[in-house]
Amino acid sequence: MIIANWKMNGSKEEVKNWIDIFNDHVEYENQSGCIFCPPSCFLDNANEIISSNNIQLNLGSQDLDPDADNPSTGGISGKMLKDLGCDYVLIGHSERRMYFNEHEDVLLQKLTSAALNNLKIVYCVGETKEQREQGMAIEAIKIQLRALKGLPVNLISVAYEPIWSIGKGITPSLDSIHEMHQIIKDELKSILNTEENILVSYGGSVSAENAVSISLLNSVDGLLIGGASLNPESFSKVVNNITIQD
Ligand code: 13P
Repeated sequence: MIIANWKMNGSKEEVKNWIDIFNDHVEYENQSGCIFCPPSCFLDNANEIISSNNIQLNLGSQDLDPDADNPSTGGISGKMLKDLGCDYVLIGHSERRMYFNEHEDVLLQKLTSAALNNLKIVYCVGETKEQREQGMAIEAIKIQLRALKGLPVNLISVAYEPIWSIGKGITPSLDSIHEMHQIIKDELKSILNTEENILVSYGGSVSAENAVSISLLNSVDGLLIGGASLNPESFSKVVNNITIQD
């Protein structure tokens, strides 16, 4: 699972260019392990290019709005995302938590809406620099994971994104990533009451240089890439470097 999170970047032209280059550089059989998350205004356009060229790239949304009975100006529902060709949705990204004030109550509604609409969820968790320095990182993540209780196991995956690493060019040590992923996996078994191995991806300053060593860790099932996913050549390089190792 290698996820490109474009955040608030790109244009229709860049979407076309990115998918074309991805398709040229990444072998057909390796494409289906990738998820492209452009801004929602480009999802329809991306879906059209992907399906008309028979590309095996999955489409994901960076967010969704909860199903609501009240009129919701500007909202985009899970049903609409499905209609746009999305199979995946990111929920709880730290930037949504911080800049859009998304707290547990709204995240619970989003998770429920995603599940009701059969969208595969990539639920993002991560600690701040302060929490890490105060030895509170594990506790902070366990609290975030609680929102998943009661959701269908088959729709859930998690992305561990330490907030202090995102966009900063610094990553935790490999040991530290492994340890945190293992803790998350164990916690998920207890929260979701399952023995199944829930996929946990790593995100935070992943680059063409460090992607292979991170992905080779036993507890890392995927990568969630921001900055380095914008350039189609470097994203394709990450995908190819990793698939060569498999
Ligand atoms: P960067 O890869 O730019 O650090 O972003 C990570 C991220 O937030 C992906 O969701």
